[in-house]
Amino acid sequence: MSTEHPAEAETPPVEPPSAPTRRAFIATTTAAGGGAVVGGVVAGPPVHAAEVPPGSRVSLTVNGARRTVTIDNRTSLLDLLREHFGLTGSKKGCNAGACGACTVLVDGRRVNSCLTLAVRLEGAEVTTIEGLAKGDRLHPLQQAFIDQDAFQCGFCTPGQIVSGVGCIQEGHTGSAEEIREWMSGNLCRCGCYVKIERAVEQAAGRK
Ligand code: FES
Ligand code: FES
Repeated sequence: MSTEHPAEAETPPVEPPSAPTRRAFIATTTAAGGGAVVGGVVAGPPVHAAEVPPGSRVSLTVNGARRTVTIDNRTSLLDLLREHFGLTGSKKGCNAGACGACTVLVDGRRVNSCLTLAVRLEGAEVTTIEGLAKGDRLHPLQQAFIDQDAFQCGFCTPGQIVSGVGCIQEGHTGSAEEIREWMSGNLCRCGCYVKIERAVEQAAGRK
């Protein structure tokens, strides 16, 4: 979950277009055959929901199962998982990339699914919290969360565990400080950070 920012390019100052006065706006905005003339551009009649294109088709693998759906292009991966596939383990906390409650793995990498457009995932492999256990056998990190009592309300826990799996796979478990750093994108309102870090250590084999 890197946060690289492209270098800001120097752009010459742009003169803002002069804002129309209220009187001019009203004068140039008139009904015209069900449409409107705004600033010289003729807008068509309102588009009804039934006329909106259905969106795009996307095929991806979720927890080992191939899924193909047609979705609105604006659908986030989180909404695809929760609303279309019924996989409600990934939580919608902030829906803005700030809390990590929605963390899933895409092709083995941690992502905030609330910020990921589902239509861009053609052919991708997605792993959610529901895909970690093997039948009745918990993933070692799920077991470690129980052993270390690393949760209270549990809302952040699916995201913490999936993120911890990513952290271990990436090899960022060399020290407690390193784990804390690489798990810092996952917030816990209950303040279970010490035990979460211990659970990741346990699953990584450092305890
Ligand atoms: Fe995605 Fe908070 S819900 S980061
Ligand atoms: Fe409650 Fe983390 S256990 S928010």
